[in-house]
Amino acid sequence: HDELSLRPQFLREYIGQTALKEELSVYIAAAKQRQEALDHVLLFGPPGLGKTTLAMIIANEMGVHIKTTSGPAIEKPGDLVALLNELEPGDILFIDEIHRLPTNIEEIMYSAMEDYFVDIMVGQGPTARAVHFPLPPFTLIGATTRPGMLSKPLRDRFGIINAMVYYTPAELQEIVVRSSDIFKAPIKPEGAYEVALRSRGTPRIANRLLKRVRDFAQVQGMAAIDQAIVTVALDKLRVDNRGLDETDHKFLGTMIAYYNGGPVGLNTIAANIGEEAETLESMVEPYLLQIGFLQRTPRGRVVTPAAYAHLNEPYPEEK
Ligand code: ADE
Repeated sequence: HDELSLRPQFLREYIGQTALKEELSVYIAAAKQRQEALDHVLLFGPPGLGKTTLAMIIANEMGVHIKTTSGPAIEKPGDLVALLNELEPGDILFIDEIHRLPTNIEEIMYSAMEDYFVDIMVGQGPTARAVHFPLPPFTLIGATTRPGMLSKPLRDRFGIINAMVYYTPAELQEIVVRSSDIFKAPIKPEGAYEVALRSRGTPRIANRLLKRVRDFAQVQGMAAIDQAIVTVALDKLRVDNRGLDETDHKFLGTMIAYYNGGPVGLNTIAANIGEEAETLESMVEPYLLQIGFLQRTPRGRVVTPAAYAHLNEPYPEEK
């Protein structure tokens, strides 16, 4: 229930994603003035940045219901029809991991999104027939960590397409202070900033780390979480002061130890550390690229001098 109570309910409580918030507030106000459904929205970006939270906020701001599902959960056309059937005019269907929608479902979405109807086959063999389902005007909100995996026809049917960006340390600090208020676990500003620095730009991580830090502070009988206890707790959790965890260290360490810092192909690194290339590409690499610890080149991934310095590794002379 912590997760639920931490989620902001309205745009004005939502910290960060400033440009996106400003845009959305205009589209929401305009749709409400016209008494229309909001245009379909696609949100993309790394996990944990608040795509689901934002979808729920859009529903609250529009004053409509939201039905939540995910791409892989919709297996048959009937599953989709069952969801769409429950919508009232203006309601929102939220599909997380929309890049994992089965292809046949994706094709049914086209007419649903564009003209608010679906045609599906019902029954089997000689009794099979096409059935036409009219739908109320609705808003599809799709979320994905892999926008490149959406087909062009599906992508083209979203009127509002926006990236979620990593949060600054100052924004994360604000989120941590807000969460600690909700937890009734007071935190000093420097303590909140230290959590922020170690949260790889991601509120979900900041809130998770805050909970662990709160445990340490509580057991020590501290009145307020300070920077020292944050440092002790997060060092124990093996999260360093740039937010790198063991997977990041393994990733960069392997490249440095075995490939002279690259260039080396992603699949090679994945095989070495026993992770899926896709997982590394969507969950591990984006933050390392963002903070300038990793570069993507046509010949493969390369560890940057900044990453060598952070890891206290000498930068190789012959490169
Ligand atoms: N909790 C998690 N993400 C948040 C955000 N962006 N704003 C406020 N509280 C949050």
